[in-house]
Amino acid sequence: MVIDHGGAVVCSASIEHVVFASPQIGWAEQDPDDWFRAACAAITQAAAAAPGKITAICLTGQMHGAVMLDAAGNVVRPALIWCDQRTGEQSREIESRFGLDEIIRLTCNRPLTNFTLTKLLWVRQHEPENWKRVRHILLPKDYVRFRLSGDYAMDVAEASGTLLLDVARRQWSADVLEKLGIDKMVLPALFESPVVCGKLRSSIASELGLDAGIPIVAGAGDQMAGAVGMGIVRPGMASATIGTSGVVFAATDRPALDAQGRLHTFCHAIPGRWCVMGVTQAAGLSLRWFRDLLQIDSAKNVDPYDLLTAEAAMAPAGCDGILWAPYLMGERTPHLDPGARGALLGLAASHRRAHVLRAVMEGVAFSLKDTLTIFGEMNVPVTKIRLGGGGARSALWRQIQADVYGMPVEILQAEEGAAYGAAILAGAGTGVWNSVDEACDAVIAVRETIEPGPATAVMQAGYQRYRNIYPALKNI
Ligand code: XUL
Repeated sequence: MVIDHGGAVVCSASIEHVVFASPQIGWAEQDPDDWFRAACAAITQAAAAAPGKITAICLTGQMHGAVMLDAAGNVVRPALIWCDQRTGEQSREIESRFGLDEIIRLTCNRPLTNFTLTKLLWVRQHEPENWKRVRHILLPKDYVRFRLSGDYAMDVAEASGTLLLDVARRQWSADVLEKLGIDKMVLPALFESPVVCGKLRSSIASELGLDAGIPIVAGAGDQMAGAVGMGIVRPGMASATIGTSGVVFAATDRPALDAQGRLHTFCHAIPGRWCVMGVTQAAGLSLRWFRDLLQIDSAKNVDPYDLLTAEAAMAPAGCDGILWAPYLMGERTPHLDPGARGALLGLAASHRRAHVLRAVMEGVAFSLKDTLTIFGEMNVPVTKIRLGGGGARSALWRQIQADVYGMPVEILQAEEGAAYGAAILAGAGTGVWNSVDEACDAVIAVRETIEPGPATAVMQAGYQRYRNIYPALKNI
């Protein structure tokens, strides 16, 4: 994505890469060179819209993936990516070596299969020959940067998702490295997100149609860059984004901790700020699953989701008692239970399809509210919630969210995703704006604020019933 100095999008391009290989159930691997190929093709296309005018580059990408390179910078084996689930044993091993309280004290997070460190320990244990060759560890977008600039570099926001960072001090954790026998030399140099950390190499610049030496700004993982793109930068601001999964994200001025580690506490893409986030695994996915199950398709050239939400709007708030627990893919927040399963409860003969559809939308909002409830327990202030993803595009889902969260929600003039946040960081890192705050104030505009409506009391009561579902069903 190319933006101008006023924040307007000049051009964007996207190129697909292989989704992922799954050599065994629960495994997910990608070839880093495939990312680089796709990134170069997309950069070349987008940059062609502004020849000779690109003044800075910044990257964002999927978090947590383990990229392992040898001494010459060659990829040792395919990357184990964020959703790879093979490292349950390594996660438990870290937890038992340190104790849950201690690992949370050192890194602000609890070991989860998603985090990079668990993937490194798996390779060390199961592929010692590969591990012996590893001299550099990077994350996905940092590998692309390495190929663009030759630098081994990472931002602290991205590094937070490795479980190797002392998130509170924004530096690699000497304690974690020492206790697990990982050499600090394999880790890249750390930078704050809006800081220049390299320059575009001349050999690659000409291939991309760009000038050599363009500064490269450190950037951030997709969640933090996405938050910058929605202006979630100051304490008090939060976002609720319903894509395939759902994320509730808040900016904080301290590393706010949940003693049980139910949320991720990471460095934000802004110096001196942190963030907390909770994840619902099957948010938009719940609605897609019902769409496919009920075979609602777009025969009349209408978006099937418009048909679906129009039908859902015919049911009353509270769906005459139906509840949906969206645990189709297990659950991260608040249950941290990959074995959790979805449930549709309270059915009666009088219910129509509309009741079920609305119940699914309400259930997803209840699940996101669980993260807001934990924010409350942690004293993380939330004064404003901005909606993103598919959940922001449906008028019904917007109102359901305002009613369930019990607070006004905002939608933006334009929501461009994480690439837009990265472009803002590029500008903030090279003097187009004096800070990320200043950039967001200048370029992000609110389109509409939706207040909680008359159904709020019914939705609050529904949420209290929803909270009983998981404990009641856990043992069945
Ligand atoms: C964040 C997370 C995802 C990945 C892939 O914790 O797991 O956002 O970065 O998008």
